[in-house]
Amino acid sequence: MDIDISKDSGVLTLTFNRLEKKNAITAAMYQSLADALKDAEADATVRAVLIAGQPQIFTAGNDLDDFLKNPPSGADSPVFQFMQRMIDCSKPTIAAVAGPAVGIGTTLLLHCDLVYAAENARLSMPFSQLGLCPEFASSLLLPQLAGSQRAAEKLLLGEPFLAAEACAMGLVNRVLPADELLPFARAQAAKLVALPASSVRATKRLMKADQVAAIKARIMEENLAFGTMLGTREAKEAFAAFFEKRKPDFSRFA
Ligand code: COA
Repeated sequence: MDIDISKDSGVLTLTFNRLEKKNAITAAMYQSLADALKDAEADATVRAVLIAGQPQIFTAGNDLDDFLKNPPSGADSPVFQFMQRMIDCSKPTIAAVAGPAVGIGTTLLLHCDLVYAAENARLSMPFSQLGLCPEFASSLLLPQLAGSQRAAEKLLLGEPFLAAEACAMGLVNRVLPADELLPFARAQAAKLVALPASSVRATKRLMKADQVAAIKARIMEENLAFGTMLGTREAKEAFAAFFEKRKPDFSRFA
């Protein structure tokens, strides 16, 4: 399976497992994630959700090939379902990030309650480099978290940044040596599991209450723009350049 789903001692662990394609996320993988989160919501024995990748890479973000062949359309699209499920998840979510976390690999961290990163974590949101625009409410949440200038640097230029900078920005709770990442994230999850579940849920809900409507509205707005931009010549050039392993040339587009 490209997403490993396991449940142990109250923790649902979702692991990207498509190393041959750098854990790039297809529509089928988004659907697995959305379905697992839906099941977790209804399962009282799940008291925390852990999202992890592999030691070499968290995820290369959207599968660009799959994205072109099956562009997401509407509220039923798997990526949209995944986003909704993350936002509506009443249980605490923890991310353990090692290696590159590209695109939604970084923006999903904005929706996790706790984020732990290995020293080799390398985050990036290269939407403008791909002829696209921000998604998953990152255009709202990143400026709020990091300030407009720092967010602009990450979202306009789309350049990668390391775990230590992500920690200074408030996007990551703690940076750990690679071999300590998963044990630490699991230990934090175990602490959450041991707490009264109703208190944990209420605390999460109250912390997020003011933002939920704004986040959902921004996602709708972003998705409209993103969907249109996927069809542009700029995006086609960027995607072609990636698969042809060359630099894109945007100079002919106004
Ligand atoms: N979509 C589809 N395929 C992808 C992919 C993606 N997002 N990311 C990597 N792959 C594929 C490559 O095409 C390659 O396939 P191949 O072996 O059939 O040629 C394979 O995964 C290995 O990728 P490669 O680029 O050679 O690995 P790397 O270690 O040199 O670099 C990344 C890793 C993540 C830095 C690089 O793959 C990358 O930048 N990927 C694109 C990220 C991106 O733009 N995501 C979309 C954000 S919206």
